Amino acid sequence: MKLILLGPPGAGKGTQAKMLTDHFGIPQISTGDILRAAVKDGTPMGLRAKGYMDSGLLVPDEVVVGIVRERLQQSDCKSGFILDGFPRTVPQADALRETLESLAKDLDAVISLKVDTEALVGRLTGRRTCRQCGRGFHVVFDPPRQTGSCDACGGELYQRDDDREETIRKRLSVYSEQTAPLEAYYTGAGLLASVDGMLEINVVQQRIRGILQAR
Ligand code: AP5
Repeated sequence: MKLILLGPPGAGKGTQAKMLTDHFGIPQISTGDILRAAVKDGTPMGLRAKGYMDSGLLVPDEVVVGIVRERLQQSDCKSGFILDGFPRTVPQADALRETLESLAKDLDAVISLKVDTEALVGRLTGRRTCRQCGRGFHVVFDPPRQTGSCDACGGELYQRDDDREETIRKRLSVYSEQTAPLEAYYTGAGLLASVDGMLEINVVQQRIRGILQAR
């Protein structure tokens, strides 16, 4: 299964990708997670990316394209992968097509999660993420059993730096301008399917699996 999850910040890409990873046993490739790890480790790439991420802007294409190209060649991607947060621009989508061609791989589907803008803001301001395993929670919609600690591994939950309302609104406008055109790109390629991301988390997961089974 080779899949892209498309959708604005807070649409549920990471939440659904982790559930699909558990179900299908294929890796989630989240460019956001990879970049945050680089920022935390203070690598040259992380230092370059931090300013863009803190301002809600996209990191330059050549940085993320390089990350994904390298990641897709690793052995755990042989039987499939879930791309979460990549591609985000038409040049990134073109670079992905070239990379997959060179690896003799085809995408199976691009799933677009649809969520109302105000719901996205509420989801992101209430999001908490585990420092240890990266699992996401929401203080209202998906609360941890114990406040501040991860159900899966007991790690500390934190709020992302870019989940402040002003930065969230910037990220949403960047999505409309630079990433939303990918819907037409993948519709043209016959790969796009839309899912109502306003539904409850498990229902969204069932809808995604239904689409994947039908393909
Ligand atoms: P990234 O980390 O990719 O962030 P994003 O795309 O903005 O997406 P999020 O992680 O915020 O949201 P999500 O859709 O995964 O939602 P989640 O499942 O967590 O990118 C961060 C930054 O890195 C970018 O701004 C950019 O600077 C840089 N970057 C990354 N990739 C890049 C690229 N390719 N090119 C250039 N720059 C790049 O859910 C959110 C909350 O809602 C959670 O609390 C969850 O519990 C809750 N929730 C989920 N589903 C539901 C539901 N159905 N009902 C109710 N609540 C729900």
